[in-house]
Amino acid sequence: MSEKTGIPPCMLVAMTRRRALMSAATAAGALGLAACVDLPGEFGSVERVDIAPQTFSLDDEGLEALATVGGIAYLKLEEGDQSVELAIVRAGEDELLAFNHLCPHANLGIAPVDGTPDGFEGVWLADERAIQCGWHKSAFKEDGTYVDDLSPETTGIANIAVYDITFDRDTNTGTVAF
Ligand code: FES
Repeated sequence: MSEKTGIPPCMLVAMTRRRALMSAATAAGALGLAACVDLPGEFGSVERVDIAPQTFSLDDEGLEALATVGGIAYLKLEEGDQSVELAIVRAGEDELLAFNHLCPHANLGIAPVDGTPDGFEGVWLADERAIQCGWHKSAFKEDGTYVDDLSPETTGIANIAVYDITFDRDTNTGTVAF
């Protein structure tokens, strides 16, 4: 157990808030982390970031997954020295949802990014209207509530931050409110 963080060393291998370091979370790291799942409580942050509303285009590079209902894409929005990393879900033809990208369980990314190992990408559970993290299967309803019944490998995780988001199909743009 780390004195600084109170986190088991096996969890520290892939805990990072930096997208760039996600590429370092290789399959080996992922497997190391998977070996110490089934831990109660949360180790990640659930903090919300407070920046001005921002509009983005679904035509932007990297957001191709949002062309399909059920797709999840990573989006980083910045304002001055503030930034927020989001997992955007195309929950319906006319509907987007915005979750914090970093999972409250171990601060690993939910949306697929460069370096996310195959099989560790988050998924949208359409019937349950919940997003499920690909790392240890923690699931969160559209309002951010952690769902124990949909989370086979974790228990007692904090809720995830969600943001208001609108979708304009005419312009193919989304606007996130903070
Ligand atoms: S990081 Fe473990 S469930 Fe998301």
